[in-house]
Amino acid sequence: MLLSKIKYIKAIGVRCNSLHYVTTPIFYVNAAPHIGHLYSAVIADAHCRYQRLRYPEKTVILCTGTDEHGTKIQQAEAGNRAGSEAVHVSQYCDEISMRYRNVFQAAGILHDDFIRTTEQRHKQAVSHFWQTLQSRGHIYSAAYSGWYCVSDETFLTDSQLRVDEQSGTRYSLESGHPVEWTEETNYMFRLSQFQDDVRHWVKQEARIRPAKFEKILLDTLSEPLPDVSVSRPANRVHWAIPVPNDDTQTVYVWLDALINYLTSRGYPNEQYVTNWPPAQQVIGKDILKFHGIYWPAFLIAAGLSPPQQLYVHSHWTVDGQKMSKSKHNVVDPIKAAEQYTMEGLRYFLLREGVAHSDGNFSHVKALRILNSELADTLGNLLSRACAKSLNPQQMYPVPHAEHFSQLLRDLDAAKRMQEAKLQLAGRCEQHYESNHFHLVADTVIATLHATNNFFECTKPWELKADGSSPNAPRLETIIAMTMDALRLCGIVLQPMMPQLASRLLDKLNVPGSQRTWSVLSESCNNSKSCHLTGGNPVLFQRIVESAQLPSESHSPAKSLQSKRSKSKKQLKMS
Ligand code: MSP
Repeated sequence: MLLSKIKYIKAIGVRCNSLHYVTTPIFYVNAAPHIGHLYSAVIADAHCRYQRLRYPEKTVILCTGTDEHGTKIQQAEAGNRAGSEAVHVSQYCDEISMRYRNVFQAAGILHDDFIRTTEQRHKQAVSHFWQTLQSRGHIYSAAYSGWYCVSDETFLTDSQLRVDEQSGTRYSLESGHPVEWTEETNYMFRLSQFQDDVRHWVKQEARIRPAKFEKILLDTLSEPLPDVSVSRPANRVHWAIPVPNDDTQTVYVWLDALINYLTSRGYPNEQYVTNWPPAQQVIGKDILKFHGIYWPAFLIAAGLSPPQQLYVHSHWTVDGQKMSKSKHNVVDPIKAAEQYTMEGLRYFLLREGVAHSDGNFSHVKALRILNSELADTLGNLLSRACAKSLNPQQMYPVPHAEHFSQLLRDLDAAKRMQEAKLQLAGRCEQHYESNHFHLVADTVIATLHATNNFFECTKPWELKADGSSPNAPRLETIIAMTMDALRLCGIVLQPMMPQLASRLLDKLNVPGSQRTWSVLSESCNNSKSCHLTGGNPVLFQRIVESAQLPSESHSPAKSLQSKRSKSKKQLKMS
């Protein structure tokens, strides 16, 4: 069914500018959280933190949670209790769901809602959504047979399978998991009728980002879409939401899971309308089909607007290999944070990850980046600018106009630093708007390199730090210009590393009201001097590897021990 343009516009809705609703996928409770899961959440969190900083007039809502139904969970729970004390599936869900909550709390994921699909509010939403689809004639009952992949919770067509010549076993091409022939009566959703609507939605400007994923969806949409089975027999999949008015069937876990985004906004109570549609939904590339084809089709069929944007990220490998329990290379975020700190881990994921291609998580790389960028380039500069030997009064001074102009006139390093400072906000804004966090980091680090260079060139340690010395105004100007750069970088870094940025801004005694994005476009120079706050300004302690370190090829979380200690330079300067 092709909606007319007017009908389509009505279904898509008008964007509500004052609300910015963002979601992460909800996480399966069949396994403990790893850095790949955290990555989805950190992207969404950094995006939301930037939105709040840049557009204080907007209400930004971030929703995350856990996906707790289906065969995967049934099986995980059964496996979990084999040979040990029986743990009821709901208790199992409680435990793993709590682990996600804890990891997200430790990582500073500022969510407004943490939804669990086993909650009553969600069951009501799923039931209502189902009845809406049914009453609109988009669901029918049919005998269904096909190759079913339990692990992927989906039926697959022949072209989506690989046959092992020797054993004859068929596997999902995409996930590699085995499939089994299944014949059952299911409820079907008329996906085939929404092909044109979905294609139209996908093709809208900036709908799917990065653009390579739009192409993948359009390729899928170039073939006729088959209708999709949206229920399972209750005797096979019992850990699921019952189909309304038919207790022999349960709701397909993907339909159930996708509806979480509506439940969180209060659906089906009317209030959800003001919170709909999502401005951005962050997902990994493995769940693109569900979010880029099924989800818009379900929503349009129910008379609701599909999301404004899908932001799709690629995956993390570890030392070049896919993370998997059998390879013992799954990186636990909590363990990784013991080595890198959570702020360091957030920084590494956002700095090294690019959405359009897979990233490799390696301890050596993490160590190199965190030590050189956070400990040396940023942390050490702060320590030097705050060193008692240079700054005995512990002030964030005001630059002296005459010296400021003179430095800019005579010194290339000062000009380059000033130029970088002036361009910082504009460039980072552009990068944040597209979730290009790695480019935000590049821009900040380039500004800090320019500032370090300025500091080195002006040799402030050769100017006597004595208020009565004739050099004092020049020295104060150098310190003020350096601290200004640090302050601006601290403001820009808040969405990526909220706690570290806050420690930096605290040290410089920057009041909360002066940490907003709009401050970045104000004159770069402080108008009033202020005292630094006390305490040790070591922002990020250098990670030092122990002598008996094994090689890179070992799992970082398991096999590497590293100590965190103050960098030599930082100790010297503080
Ligand atoms: N429960 C579904 C999502 C339902 S949303 C309505 C699911 N859960 S998941 O726990 O398997 O994955 C959640 C997210 O983690 C997905 O975005 C997925 O892409 C991401 N990651 C899982 N492994 C990953 C990596 N190795 N690297 C990066 N992200 C990965 O799918």
